[in-house]
Amino acid sequence: MGWFKFANRWGQKAQTIIDYTKTFEIIYSSNSSSYPHLLQSSEQNPRWVNSSRSSLKPLLIVTPFHESEIQAAILCTKKHGLQIRVRSGGHDYEGLSYRCKTPFILVDLVNLRSVDINLEEEVAWVQSGATLGELYYSIAMESKVHGFPAGICPSVGIGGHLSGGGFGTMLRKHGLAADNVIDAYLIDVSGRILNRELMGEDLFWAIRGGGGASFGIILSWKIKLVRVPPTVTVFTVSRSLEQGAIELVHRWQYIAHELSEDLFIRVIIQDVDDPNNGAARTVQAAFNSLFLGKLDCLMPLMNQSFPELGLKVDNCTEMTWIESVLYFAGYKKDDPLEVLLDRNTLYKSYFKAKSDFAQEPIPEVGLRVIWERFLEEEIVFMIMDPYGGKMNEIPESELPFPHRRGNLYNVQYLVKWVQNGVKASKKHLHWMRMLYNYMTPYVSASPRAAYLNYRDLDLGINGKGEESYSGASVWGVKYFKDNFKRLAIVKGRVDPENFLRSEQSIPPYPALKKGR
Ligand code: FDA
Repeated sequence: MGWFKFANRWGQKAQTIIDYTKTFEIIYSSNSSSYPHLLQSSEQNPRWVNSSRSSLKPLLIVTPFHESEIQAAILCTKKHGLQIRVRSGGHDYEGLSYRCKTPFILVDLVNLRSVDINLEEEVAWVQSGATLGELYYSIAMESKVHGFPAGICPSVGIGGHLSGGGFGTMLRKHGLAADNVIDAYLIDVSGRILNRELMGEDLFWAIRGGGGASFGIILSWKIKLVRVPPTVTVFTVSRSLEQGAIELVHRWQYIAHELSEDLFIRVIIQDVDDPNNGAARTVQAAFNSLFLGKLDCLMPLMNQSFPELGLKVDNCTEMTWIESVLYFAGYKKDDPLEVLLDRNTLYKSYFKAKSDFAQEPIPEVGLRVIWERFLEEEIVFMIMDPYGGKMNEIPESELPFPHRRGNLYNVQYLVKWVQNGVKASKKHLHWMRMLYNYMTPYVSASPRAAYLNYRDLDLGINGKGEESYSGASVWGVKYFKDNFKRLAIVKGRVDPENFLRSEQSIPPYPALKKGR
């Protein structure tokens, strides 16, 4: 608890901080040799750490082993008028977990990552600093017939993922990761540790999809495990433009959300080398699927509902659920499960992403123009994740994540680049914004909805002071629709001074703030 006495004087007393750090190994000042490595350790989008233009580096990085160290970090930061950032897996698309425009300290939860499975009750307690891969691995070590419905990339952190919603291949059967959270421990702005009962249902609602960083630091989550069959089936069938990809994707839009809940078929569109002409590029659609059952049940389903794809037995592989996790993450079937424990992502790169929700099928002519635009860029993806099933059964207001019935699928657009620089990033950002504009007539409107976990600062950023609620509504209703107001009311109750703030944090609802 005592470290913040030193942290208080960081400018003048750097040496003291370093000595202290050596003893306790939880505080790293910029003089520490570990600091640069730690800062970059889990960032996914190197655009931010190397950019000194729009953000500062943390004055200190704190890597707590115990909740008391987080309590101290919060109180110390507050006392000295600094800001605080919390990072679990570091996958925030805009780097908001580790960058800030004003002096701040970074609390990195990398050391708080235990997973405690209770198979008898079919629940687990998982700390925020664990990754999805660590969670999936721990479940698989205990049971072959349990899993958890969360995202596809194993290096994503639990803290950001669950607090922003979180979905993956079992979304149509079991909903979001956040739908399967039943308790949590959070440290609030006063340093109090609160579980569900103590924090109350409003705050517990807010942290399951409203973004945790606006409300406190979430230490751990109690989750419901779900049953998975001992054998599941996966397939990936790819078709290029020349092989009728547009017609197939067009057809997919009518059926993917209505299929059996056990069947998840997403589409990944990307530009690739043309196999028939090495010098040319083409666009390819990959139909990438998990079926929660065996091949002999999958084939009749596919033949009946999506015969146009021409799925063959040879395209499919039966495996365990945990092997399917490796498959979707891009590993080989025979890779050891331990690859899930690797916190280094396979996907680190400079990138910009945006998201949409489609409520009507895009006509073939629209798809054709989108794909023509793909050929203008080098590394681009459009990932379409089907909704329906369980997502239709959950009311929009159940959790802050409102994108339920009425959505055919979620779209994520992603452009990546290898050589960074102001010119390069401007070019790619410009292209992405053009594509997004082009998509306007085809996707949800009023609001044009977006997914918080695919954070996009183009949607708007916070202003200052009393106006921040109305200003923030510009981006807030896109992520949360009518739930935005309730989030702001909760914020007004638990953090009326808006201590926990960032470019896209929930502002306190003004009436409540004034009424205090
Ligand atoms: P990070 O640590 O950057 O945190 C993200 C946000 O949550 C920040 O605002 C941070 O301050 C806050 N936060 C983190 N821990 C907190 C805590 N303990 N308490 C309070 N606030 C906290 N999504 C999805 O739904 N399905 C998917 O399949 C994927 N796949 C995917 C792949 C790759 C390569 C990337 C980069 C991202 C995804 N995502 C995803 C998006 C992912 O769910 C999203 O970026 C999460 O917010 C990441 O959580 P982290 O803890 O890793 O991020």
